[in-house]
Amino acid sequence: KKIENMKIMISGAPASGKGTQCELITKKYGLVHIAAGDLLRAEIAEGTENGKRAKEYMEKGDLVPNEIVVMMVKDRLSQPDSVEKGWLLDGFPRSSSQATALQEFGFKPDLFILLDVPQDILVDRVVGRRLDPVSGKIYHLKYSPPESEEIAARLTQRFDDTEEKVKLRLETHNQNVESVLSLYQDIIVKVDGSADKDDVFAQIDKALAKLS
Ligand code: AP5
Repeated sequence: KKIENMKIMISGAPASGKGTQCELITKKYGLVHIAAGDLLRAEIAEGTENGKRAKEYMEKGDLVPNEIVVMMVKDRLSQPDSVEKGWLLDGFPRSSSQATALQEFGFKPDLFILLDVPQDILVDRVVGRRLDPVSGKIYHLKYSPPESEEIAARLTQRFDDTEEKVKLRLETHNQNVESVLSLYQDIIVKVDGSADKDDVFAQIDKALAKLS
């Protein structure tokens, strides 16, 4: 059966490559990329009450409370572009209560992509990650360096991208991941995320091509 407006979830440990793969997926499949972490960072940047509260949890590598994050994601999923083009949900749900909430609102994915990356690689990826505030592109000083001096000069680093904080984020991930996976076990495709980013994409592309 061919699916017109694909609904995809992507999950994996911190720095497993979710954002990087979402760039490649949206370029080819035109889905709307909805990243819980990006929505939260936008609230922080705007200085809203929710943003201020969320930052306290993000600083500690903890999950932000559902009362902030669930409606935020639900509202984005309900926007006309997401309904029309289909969506690619990144970093949500991160607990069984978030998964249940989505289900109750009627959002059901066609495929659940799990990026599998060994922990020692994750720390290396986090500390070298940089972001281009102009294009929104994700770089890595070693694995995906900027194309020009001009871009290199304006790269920024996320406030939770230190070795100490990624360990806390990883603990939170490890505590919650099984309960989420068990709810989607029939539609999970597990991908080796330790490979080169184009090889990782090739694995994902194969799974998506079967649906589209
Ligand atoms: P979030 O923003 O979702 O962060 P995360 O899950 O820790 O994931 P990252 O964005 O760090 O990594 P990524 O997997 O996207 O990797 P990337 O592609 O950038 O969440 C942040 C915080 O917000 C949470 O800690 C929590 O507090 C809160 N939050 C978010 N969602 C929530 C929710 N649902 N409920 C409650 N709280 C929530 O890649 C990483 C680096 O590696 C880059 O430099 C990249 O260039 C490089 N790289 C990528 N792929 C490869 C490759 N194949 N080979 C070599 N290098 C690679």
